[in-house]
Amino acid sequence: MPPFSNIQACVFDAYGTLFDIHAPAASIAEELGDAARPLSDLWRRKQLEYTWLRSLMGAHADFWQLTGDGLDYALEVHGIGDADIRERLMNLYENLEAYPDAGDTLTRLKEAGYTTAILSNGAPSMLSSAIRHSGLAALIDHPISIEDAGIYKPSPRVYQLAVERTGARPEEICFVSANAWDVAGSASFGFQVAHLNRFGQPPERLPGKPKAVIASLSELPALIG
Ligand code: LAC
Repeated sequence: MPPFSNIQACVFDAYGTLFDIHAPAASIAEELGDAARPLSDLWRRKQLEYTWLRSLMGAHADFWQLTGDGLDYALEVHGIGDADIRERLMNLYENLEAYPDAGDTLTRLKEAGYTTAILSNGAPSMLSSAIRHSGLAALIDHPISIEDAGIYKPSPRVYQLAVERTGARPEEICFVSANAWDVAGSASFGFQVAHLNRFGQPPERLPGKPKAVIASLSELPALIG
C-alpha cells in the first residue's frame, strides 16, 4: 500500500525542487573560482532569511527584489563588486533550468490524471519565466505565487492558496519540496508531504513531518499510487 492515500492534486515547491537554483553560479564558475558554491549557498540562505524576516516585520517585498538583495549581500561577503557578474547571475536566475527528473515526473502525473500545481515564493513574472524557459508550462495546471497572499511560506495563508486554486482538500494534496522547513510548514498545514532530499538535509526540529523522504522526483508516482 502506498504511503499516500486519496491524492487529487500534486503541488510542488519551485526553487530547489523543480528549478536548479545553483545553476547560475555554476555556469559562471570559471570566473567565480572557489567562491562559486559558497556564494550560491549564501545567496540562497539570505534570500530565504529575508522572506522570513520581512514576513515577521510586516514589510513585504516581492521575491525578485529579495533575490537581488540576497545576491548583493553574498557578493559583498565574497568581495565581488563587478556589476556585470551581478547582472548575469540575475538574468540566469530569471531563466532557470528544470532538474532532469522534473519533466518526466510531471508527465507521468498528468497521464495518471492528477491536477498539478506550483506553489512558490516566486513573484509571478519570475515564476512564469522559469516555467516557460524550463519547458514545463504544459505540465503545470496552476502556477501559484505567494504574492496572492502577500506573505511568504511557511504562513498557512500561503498553503491555503493551493487548496483554493486546485479545489482539493488539504488532505487530498501531495505537496513536494526540497526545503525541509517548507516540508514542516506544509505538513503542519495538513498536506500529505514528500521531502525531496536533494541537499542531504537532516529533518527540521519543527512540527510537521513528511510522509516520505525521496531522493528523486521519479520516485513520486509510485508513492501516490
Ligand atoms: C519557493 C522557494 C521556497 O519556490 O524555493 O517557494
